[in-house]
Amino acid sequence: MNKYLTLLQSKIYLAGLFITKEDSQSYAIISPLNQNKIALAANSTINDVDIAISQAQIAFDAWKNLSSLERAEYLLNISDYMLKNKDELGHLLHLEQGKSVPEAIGEILYSSSYFKWFAHQAQSLHGETLNSPCINKQMYTIKQPIGVCAAITPFNFPSAMLARKLAPALAAGCSMIIKPASDTPFSALVYGIIADEINLPKGLISILPADQENSINIGKRICESETVRKLSFTGSSHTGKILMSQCAGNIKRLSLELGGNAPFIVTKCANVQTAIDDAIKNKFRNSGQTCVCANRFFIHKDILHEFTDKIKQEIEILNITQPISPLINFKAIEKVDKLVKNALNKGAKLELGGNIQHNLYYQRTLLTNVDKTMDIYHQEIFGPVISIMSYENIKDAVKQANDTPYGLAAYVYTENINEINYFTRNLEYGMLGINNAAFSSPAFPFGGIKQSGFGKEGSIYGLEDYTITKAICLADGEA
Ligand code: SIN
Repeated sequence: MNKYLTLLQSKIYLAGLFITKEDSQSYAIISPLNQNKIALAANSTINDVDIAISQAQIAFDAWKNLSSLERAEYLLNISDYMLKNKDELGHLLHLEQGKSVPEAIGEILYSSSYFKWFAHQAQSLHGETLNSPCINKQMYTIKQPIGVCAAITPFNFPSAMLARKLAPALAAGCSMIIKPASDTPFSALVYGIIADEINLPKGLISILPADQENSINIGKRICESETVRKLSFTGSSHTGKILMSQCAGNIKRLSLELGGNAPFIVTKCANVQTAIDDAIKNKFRNSGQTCVCANRFFIHKDILHEFTDKIKQEIEILNITQPISPLINFKAIEKVDKLVKNALNKGAKLELGGNIQHNLYYQRTLLTNVDKTMDIYHQEIFGPVISIMSYENIKDAVKQANDTPYGLAAYVYTENINEINYFTRNLEYGMLGINNAAFSSPAFPFGGIKQSGFGKEGSIYGLEDYTITKAICLADGEA
């Protein structure tokens, strides 16, 4: 058994202590790799949430008064721990989430980079001196941590999405309660081991795994708590809307990173080979289970055949050199299969794949002749399926690309500067990849618009999201 799994079995991390739950209060984690039970995960309760929140408030009062340099030291230590233990942490992630070992280790490095980057940013957070219109009044702002925060994190990047929330929260001076995805609790719980190892103050973080049913109650409790001042959620638009309505009662600060329906546009002026290479990396990363995966490929009609033939060949080669990794669970694979079958029934052409390989493994699939009558045009696929359609001119491409309630990421391939300007101005998305489809980095403001949510993660904006701006007006006394 992976060393971390042995340590984390049936445990919650509550205010700096690992607490073991009875088997009857635990649930089984099944590896998507082979359907084997890898360990029991503890099922946290409402009572655990209440303790976590009150301890987080106490810890916050002390943590916010450390200097940013002192807080940065802790973050750097977390980053270092992850780097030193990347192989075992990656292996744990691979076991519970299913992504390949190199991708899993890559995710640990990605997580570590958030702690390093925000350690440095913590030290440059500052307010402003304002240009006061009144000669006898000084005006300025200070930045302060918002308070106790909560994070609800997804299964697709169980380590990195937590890092993207926790690193800026700690850097800004906040404490945090974390509710990881039910399918992938261990890559989150491991942060408890790291916290102990680097002597992070007790109570500052709590990690509360829970099965699907308890997760709903825990989420509600977090939303309704007056003490929790901010919730950061990554997941479906459906759940995001529920959480938002539950937070309305106390006007909690929210950042929501929700679903996407990313267009991938290739014009006649593109380097087609670069577009294909990037499309493959973007689409098949984590077997298509990323919020920023290209979902709809819009290829200019004059290069449609060239693009389709070449990408088909590349996928065939990839199938030989790199086996696909599994999807997370049976619900996920059934959804992907249903989208593919719906498209085929409505006239899409199957170029490759199109079926469940075995268990949770879905074949890399290539569909052409996709159109808006098909569900796959409208829904986030979250699986290894490329769906291609053509367009006439760039106005038509933008119109189709924006024809969705979502607005997370969009990709454009063209070497024509006028086209680049046109797409940049007109695509209704929070993030654009132009001649590249891999922008994820701690420096990049990650987040969407429309029903893909609001708030940015990563970057200086991601740090600001964990602060309040206090405005001060100071009157001069008698000289
Ligand atoms: C996501 O799928 O939401 C995260 C992907 C990334 O950070 O690259």
